[in-house]
Amino acid sequence: MSNAVDNDVMNKIVALCKRRGIIFQSSEIYGGINGFWDYGPMGAPLRRAVEQCWWKYMVEDRDNVEGLDSTIICHPEVWRASGHLAQFSDSMTDCMVCKKRYRVDQLEDPHHCPNCGSDKLTEPREFNLMMKTFVGPVFDEEHAAYLRAETCQPIFVDFNTVRIATRQKLPFGIAQTGKAFRNEINPRFFTFRSREFMQMEMEFFCRDSESMEWYNYWREERRKFYTDILGIEDGKLQWHDHDKLAHYAKAAVDIEYKFPFGWGEIEGIHHRGTWDMSRHCEYSKQEKDCKYFDQDTKESFFPTVVETSCGLDRICLMLLCNAYDEDTAATQKEGMEEDVRIVMHLPARVAPVQVAVMPLSKKLEEKAQPIRQALRKKFRTAYDDSGSIGKRYRRQDEVGTPFCLTVDFDTPNDQAVTVRDRDTMTQERVGIDALASYLDERIYK
Ligand code: GAP
Repeated sequence: MSNAVDNDVMNKIVALCKRRGIIFQSSEIYGGINGFWDYGPMGAPLRRAVEQCWWKYMVEDRDNVEGLDSTIICHPEVWRASGHLAQFSDSMTDCMVCKKRYRVDQLEDPHHCPNCGSDKLTEPREFNLMMKTFVGPVFDEEHAAYLRAETCQPIFVDFNTVRIATRQKLPFGIAQTGKAFRNEINPRFFTFRSREFMQMEMEFFCRDSESMEWYNYWREERRKFYTDILGIEDGKLQWHDHDKLAHYAKAAVDIEYKFPFGWGEIEGIHHRGTWDMSRHCEYSKQEKDCKYFDQDTKESFFPTVVETSCGLDRICLMLLCNAYDEDTAATQKEGMEEDVRIVMHLPARVAPVQVAVMPLSKKLEEKAQPIRQALRKKFRTAYDDSGSIGKRYRRQDEVGTPFCLTVDFDTPNDQAVTVRDRDTMTQERVGIDALASYLDERIYK
């Protein structure tokens, strides 16, 4: 991650997220808990919508990818087999003078503290990142279990059950979304590095001979997801191929976005070879469940895995950073005195509110409410009848509502409303009967 930090923009985004109930600290009245974040009334629908886009794109729209929803706690042997218990750790050092703690691999000069300049750093120590708990009434090592550190391991473990249930043949994938937990030493950059976060992962099982073709295919599919579905410009993404690969892998790449605090990874696409399936075979001793039997050749072998792995919270943070704008356009025409509006240009398909219905006067409620009730069947809607229209537009701009509909005193006569576009600020009269299709075309284009 580069050092060019735009604190100003980041601070504004964090403040907006709190003020408008998008994302804020967990347990705030107790002082918060480092690395844990709550999604409020405007954040929860955003995160769900992004997750739903991913699920539709990766699972529902494909014949060769199946969905899974596994438990967060698995048999502890899963994490022994995956290598997490032995190796999933960060090497840390403490400054004995100012007491700051650092990841050794992130120190530019491993001999001096970047905070106070002292050379009194402790010998590096390993910290395991797995979150530990106990299952059952006895709190001893025999009953220890772990919250999953990645969502993909249960996919490997369930491979054969899913394959039999769905009658899939190689090549095919299994996908899941859900919580993952890591006891990160330095949670930072708002939600970017959290201790509890959501992952969206797809493991694609194939023959080794065709695995690089699939790797390249998924690279392109994932690029399209960010550019075509989420509207991120190509130039704002960077593809960072790994120079150092795990011994079993043929290729790996990180997709990075330019956050205000520098380039940061949002997704990894990894060729994982047969590592995971062979390790689970070794630890579970269930060869039949970990290998694939080819009916044609009568051969049994470990499938090779190509993985796409992204963080939902990081994608939401990317969308929020990408959307944030202070617009000095002609806002006065909307009756506002100040000439700066904060506007979130969120993609309409994931905006927490897609359509806001605003009667010009409370007297128009009888006309406006049925319009809102009809539209909420298809879209995420809000109803706002308080304050000047200009102020109401600003409130919706701040949470990224792409369309505001004004119901006015002409509406009962012409059976139409004024639709105001967040980005262009243009207004158009649209008949009530045509509203649903008018909005649908623009929101899901
Ligand atoms: N199964 C492979 C795997 O978990 P990873 O690079 O450790 O790979 C994948 O994680 C993605 O999960 C990352 O690209 C990132 O988007 C997200 N992620 C990882 N650690 C995170 C954290 N502490 N907070 C938020 N997101 C995280």
